Amino acid sequence: MKDHQEIAALTLESLFSNSPAMNRCLALAKQAAKCDLPILLQGETGTGKTLLAQAIHNSSTRQNGNFASFNASAMSDTLLESQLFGHEKGAFTGATSQMRGKFEVAHDGTLFFDEIADMSAIAQAKILRAVEYGEYERLGGERTRHADVRIISATNQPLRKLAGMGQFRNDLYHRLNGLTLVIPSLRDRQEDLSGLIANELKKCAEGFVKNITSIHPDAFSKLLNYSWPGNLRELHRVIQAVVLFTEDEVIYQENIILDDELMDETEAYDPPELKSTVGQTKASINLTVPDKNDLSLESAILQHIEKVYFMTERNKRKTAKILGVSRSTLDRKLNSMDTDSDLL
Ligand SMILES: Nc1ncnc2c1ncn2[C@@H]1O[C@H](COP(=O)(O)OP(=O)(O)O)[C@@H](O)[C@H]1O
Ligand SMILES: [Mg+2]
Repeated sequence: MKDHQEIAALTLESLFSNSPAMNRCLALAKQAAKCDLPILLQGETGTGKTLLAQAIHNSSTRQNGNFASFNASAMSDTLLESQLFGHEKGAFTGATSQMRGKFEVAHDGTLFFDEIADMSAIAQAKILRAVEYGEYERLGGERTRHADVRIISATNQPLRKLAGMGQFRNDLYHRLNGLTLVIPSLRDRQEDLSGLIANELKKCAEGFVKNITSIHPDAFSKLLNYSWPGNLRELHRVIQAVVLFTEDEVIYQENIILDDELMDETEAYDPPELKSTVGQTKASINLTVPDKNDLSLESAILQHIEKVYFMTERNKRKTAKILGVSRSTLDRKLNSMDTDSDLL
């Protein structure tokens, strides 16, 4: 997760790429940033659509305006309207004060519609006029307002196909699609993988204040040869776990647990300890370490493990899965905790 400062500094130039596929995408994005065309970002989950939308905004002439983000899935119609267009005081029960909507907030800036394919038919109908003419009214308000916004939308669905099948408004699709940018999956960015892995390792080691000096070639190959179905989001998560749970200065192959291995391991495992603990209440389990006054990183890790272990009612299989570590790593960590019982 990036902090606000990092996001504010994020520009198209700062995005790492050595691969033809991503270079093409970034070159188009740079052209698109110069004008006000609505942009549709297509890409698998985790490829960096949200990040690219923000970078386009930061690199555009609208950079001094706001970047407002809207995700319409799972929202009631009233909430949806007030979120998009704002409301006047007393517009509905609970509207105790006036509120600006996303179109107003993004005036002179960029409005980002995330997961646009999940937008309900009602929401699609409601935004059409505002997208088309930049006109809208606050909920409970009379005055027609004008919004000067650049729209960027993102989806991991084949939106054109959905529009063709009548599952997304065709008129809205054409309004949103001034230009489509396809963000390549990590599988199609082979030339970028080693650089992205190295950058992520460095960032995580700094973030977790870990003295990691190198990565074993076998470990590096393991990361390079993986297919990364969850793309950059998965890369970020896996490397975070690797760094967090590496106790050496060197990262070895066995420190790296990929999702497909985790599945194999967890599915094959029948935890015998469950049988021996049936009937025991959570209160009877009392790990005495980690010490809550110990603010070291190691202690924080142990506390987190402890929390997840209790949450899963001491199911090691589930705990390892949630933490994204192997059973052997979890066992090692659990064994390193002092306990006042022999329940481990
Ligand atoms: N170009 C990039 N370089 C490094 N990390 C990236 C890049 N693009 C995205 N990420 C990271 O990958 C994760 C997913 O990015 P996000 O933009 O939310 O993807 P999407 O919206 O396509 O699902 C985030 O943690 C983000 O910081
Ligand atoms: Mg996203």
